[in-house]
Amino acid sequence: MSRQRRVLANAYNVAEFRAAARRVLPTGIFDYLDGGSEDEITLRRNREVFEAWGLMPRWGPVSGPDTTTSLLGRSSALPLTLTPTGATRLFHPEGELAVAGAAASAGIPYGLAGMSTVAMESIAERFPGLDRWFNLGLSKDAKVREEKLDRCRAAGFNTLIVGVDTRALGSRERDLQNGFTAPPSLTLATLLDIASRPGWWANFLRSDGLSFPNLSPQGSSPTVTPSMWQQILGHSDSSNGWGELEALREAWDGKIVLKGCVNPSDVGRAASVGIDAVQLSNHGGRQLDHMLSPMDVLQESRQRVGSAIEIYVDSGIRRGSDIVKALALGADACSIGRPYLYGLVAAGSPGVGRIIEIFAEELRRTMTLVGVSTVAELKDKGPAVVRDLRQAGKAPDEASARAEDHPLLTAAK
Ligand SMILES: Cc1cc2nc3c(=O)[nH]c(=O)nc-3n(C[C@H](O)[C@H](O)[C@H](O)COP(=O)(O)O)c2cc1C
Repeated sequence: MSRQRRVLANAYNVAEFRAAARRVLPTGIFDYLDGGSEDEITLRRNREVFEAWGLMPRWGPVSGPDTTTSLLGRSSALPLTLTPTGATRLFHPEGELAVAGAAASAGIPYGLAGMSTVAMESIAERFPGLDRWFNLGLSKDAKVREEKLDRCRAAGFNTLIVGVDTRALGSRERDLQNGFTAPPSLTLATLLDIASRPGWWANFLRSDGLSFPNLSPQGSSPTVTPSMWQQILGHSDSSNGWGELEALREAWDGKIVLKGCVNPSDVGRAASVGIDAVQLSNHGGRQLDHMLSPMDVLQESRQRVGSAIEIYVDSGIRRGSDIVKALALGADACSIGRPYLYGLVAAGSPGVGRIIEIFAEELRRTMTLVGVSTVAELKDKGPAVVRDLRQAGKAPDEASARAEDHPLLTAAK
């Protein structure tokens, strides 16, 4: 049996696909995919926050369950989207095309990165039925903005994802330790690595050089060198702000998702300037270390905007039960980055498809066990099926009474 078929037959959760991806990729590339910034405190927190919430089933009849939902006015088979990850051909020769194919088959949206290694027109041509979202950088220059928007319109990308968490590039220290470059340059370490990961290297050396066809004007897309990569990654205009976002809102009549904030006041402001959805995210712990996790601010964000806009959550989603917890606390959908990349590395497009299927199976099982039949019911009855374990065992009044009795507070009175 080929390695790919073996993984598809045997890997039964995201962690198993991660382990399989680790066996395929050179160390430096696996760490680039998997790692976080600085001490990786936020990266770890992204999992811990889910462990802080317990599930409290309600007994009664359940049918289905039905996982379909509506996202930005379009039907999605799951409350799940595949969020942008740049340079996907670094991980697998089919790159973004393989991811787009799996999302199209599953009937869920795919956000193509601005730094994707496949042109948006190729995605549109191959997968006309895909709900296509594009990760657009803000620009002060109206002409540059209009050219990019024209390209999105022509290729049928209906939703823009605007990132607000890369005003500087996070320091990913695993990359520094590994001497990671993209594309990999031939050093003694990479030569040794070729011996241990021959399959990945053979694929990489056979495929076309990496380029970023959606960053440059259509048709011109030079092969990326390690120094260009550093320059592109490090280049983010930190002087952009709400003014540029409002100008984009004026110029674009499709949907806009603001991605990468965790501040409820930013969520409120986004709603007031006509943004359609906010994706609470800390970039999967890759940018600002110590940054809060979306789950830390989800309820407050929802209270801030009511039902005026949609709220998505990414960073650390690894189980169907994570989706249940997020929806119960106010999210409309969750989004995944690394999990689909693990699937891609381990088993190509079918691997991405299997990852989506695993989330769907886990989501259906968890919905049934907690006692909800539809996504709408989960969102409606959500607070009744989750319990904050940090408050477990305390009745709500008791918890606040104890806080008031705290010796420090009593002394201050
Ligand atoms: C390898 C990699 C590349 C990424 N590239 C981008 C990008 O180009 N644009 C962007 O907005 N976010 C990017 N992200 C962040 C993801 O969109 C997302 O916020 C994050 O991966 C979610 O966390 P998770 O990986 O724990 O699911 C990237 C993440 C990874 C792992």
